[in-house]
Amino acid sequence: SAAEKGGHDYFMLKEIAEQPKAVADTLLGRIDGAGSLRLDEVRIPVGVLRQVDKVVIVACGTAFHAGLIAKYAIEHWTRIPCEVELASEFRYRDPILDQQTLVIAVSQSGETMDTLMALRHAREQGSKVLAICNTNGSTIPRESDAVLYTHAGPEVAVASTKAFLTQLVACYLVALYLGQVRGTKFADEIRDVVRDLSRMPGAVERVLGTMGPVRELARSLAGKGTVLFLGRHVGYPVALEGALKLKELAYMHAEGFAAGELKHGPIALIEEDLPVVVVVPSPRGRSVLHDKIVSNIQEIRARGARTIVIAEEGDEAVVPYADHLVRVPVTPTLLQPLVATVPLQVFACELATARGNEVDQPRNLAKSVTVE
Ligand code: AGP
Repeated sequence: SAAEKGGHDYFMLKEIAEQPKAVADTLLGRIDGAGSLRLDEVRIPVGVLRQVDKVVIVACGTAFHAGLIAKYAIEHWTRIPCEVELASEFRYRDPILDQQTLVIAVSQSGETMDTLMALRHAREQGSKVLAICNTNGSTIPRESDAVLYTHAGPEVAVASTKAFLTQLVACYLVALYLGQVRGTKFADEIRDVVRDLSRMPGAVERVLGTMGPVRELARSLAGKGTVLFLGRHVGYPVALEGALKLKELAYMHAEGFAAGELKHGPIALIEEDLPVVVVVPSPRGRSVLHDKIVSNIQEIRARGARTIVIAEEGDEAVVPYADHLVRVPVTPTLLQPLVATVPLQVFACELATARGNEVDQPRNLAKSVTVE
């Protein structure tokens, strides 16, 4: 009913709108007044966490994209090597696991069979498993050594939105916590990031307040067959997530690429008026990447692409090459996915609506996939 959807036309729109609160709730009580992480819920002894020499993240779909982003954060803040693998591939290749491996299973529903089978396999090899999950008491947390719950609240729409943002928050918290318990040379940076994390609910709210032009753009593209998404660094998994949302909801051909791969093949796809969404990293700090992606935008535009550029407020370098410019608030590089994903969710939802598709229940899909 309309009441259940909180006055929105679809659960997906309600859940997109709930993201600032979902992010805030997932941070709540987990950072103390001094800016230290308080993750007592993670009932894996600190002594064990100090011995971890490899992190392996297993997940499917959108949760897998959260895992891809987590890898950048974990390796940067902890210097522990981190692999991310599709849960459905993991146990069939005889992965290398032992007692010093920490496996993180990310799942909204906690019932995804592929992820469950992957974590069972990891535990059989003696690895500790930490679940990041949104559903209290579901199978994946029950079978794990510990769980960090995302507090997104129930997610009804098949396409994951607020669960994804809270998975990112949980992954950042775990990465920072691992850094904290192991002691890292990034102590100052960690303190800054903790402060920046607490500002993210407001940043997500700001993005939501500027989505009118994104919706309008989506409607104007309803007749298109293909949309490409490019990103680099943590923007690459964001591009993959933008493409997945569009496939699920708009039933369009959509692909995400690492922008640096363009010249190794995908640039051959560029043709007149092809919409290409580009997620641009911050011009500060990682300016090398920023400059490279600006050249990518120039290259594809010179070949006729219609560029839809998602860039930080104040990033003027992209302006001449953006046919459509979507601004997101300034954030530290690693946190940018929390704001950059939101326009892509809105874009996919509006395109699906314009194409007459069922937004909350896309064809052929189920909310939780309990078969392998
Ligand atoms: C997301 O929009 C999808 N519907 C899907 O990829 C989902 O993320 C995947 O099936 C994993 O589900 P889980 O988080 O419940 O394990």
